[in-house]
Amino acid sequence: MTTPTTWFVTGASKGLGLELVRQLLAQGANVAATSRSADRLRAALADADADTTRLLPLAVDLADEADVQRAVTAAAERFGRLDVVVNNAGYGYLAAVEETTAQAVRDMLDVQVVGVWNVLRAALPVMREQRSGRVVNVSSVLGLVSLPGWALYCAGKFALEAMTEALAGEVAGHGIEVTLVEPGYFRTSFLSPDSLALPETTTDHYPQIRRMVADHRALQGSQLGDPARGAAEIIARASVAGAPLRQVLGSDSHAYATAKVDALRANLAAEADSAPRTDHPAA
Ligand SMILES: NC(=O)c1ccc[n+]([C@@H]2O[C@H](COP(=O)([O-])OP(=O)(O)OC[C@H]3O[C@@H](n4cnc5c(N)ncnc54)[C@H](OP(=O)(O)O)[C@@H]3O)[C@@H](O)[C@H]2O)c1
Repeated sequence: MTTPTTWFVTGASKGLGLELVRQLLAQGANVAATSRSADRLRAALADADADTTRLLPLAVDLADEADVQRAVTAAAERFGRLDVVVNNAGYGYLAAVEETTAQAVRDMLDVQVVGVWNVLRAALPVMREQRSGRVVNVSSVLGLVSLPGWALYCAGKFALEAMTEALAGEVAGHGIEVTLVEPGYFRTSFLSPDSLALPETTTDHYPQIRRMVADHRALQGSQLGDPARGAAEIIARASVAGAPLRQVLGSDSHAYATAKVDALRANLAAEADSAPRTDHPAA
């Protein structure tokens, strides 16, 4: 199978999204790419020396349903179809649960959950009509594993995973495939001050989280994952029919996810005797 021709990618002005768009344009694909700033997106692609003839840059507020609908409609009208929709936009947030404000929770879920849902509500009818397409939701290994200080980010990614698992079952009969991408640490802007959000106020009660934040900031620039290789793997997988739902990117991601499954299996084994106690007795 050849690379699908028309892509819609969110969060494209930097990192993995930018690398995806750069490679897709180089391969001759049509690309509708969203950013909060179309100018920033154009500048980033100019820096990358990309041929933007087949690019539709779109300034979109993902939390705004009408804005997203307009963007998806513009993409479908410009290119006549939608083969792959990549929900990539996202950002990190590091704080203790009790330091996380209601507004911070809403802002994160607006991007990671509401925004993805807005894109899908707009794009799925186009794909159903075509009877083909693929949804690629960029989660994280932190969509499977949650750690102190990462509660809000993980809550968003866990929610994305739950929605995506359900979606895969719903759309299979319409010829639409679904991929859940789970990267480990990738050398993008993710841990840089302009991407990684922090709480406005912190307490003195979580020194381990402050150390964790400092450690992560220091990691910026030496993460294991190469975004160019990550984007290439995502593009390659998009042509594979019947691939597994989860695409794990990075040996770190694979190790963390495996440890989570092992811990979950041990937890379930420990509960095997007590769980049935709440069943109604057999009649
Ligand atoms: N890098 C990692 O270690 C890593 C690991 C696991 C998962 N991920 C996931 O991979 C995806 C891409 O991240 P990245 O590593 O490429 O990070 P990045 O370099 O910081 O790029 C993130 C992209 O997401 C968009 N974005 C950020 N905050 C947004 C907001 N509030 N509203 C709308 N869009 C927003 C940005 O779009 P614009 O600025 O163009 O609007 C930007 O292009 C994210 O979903 C992230 O959670 C990354």
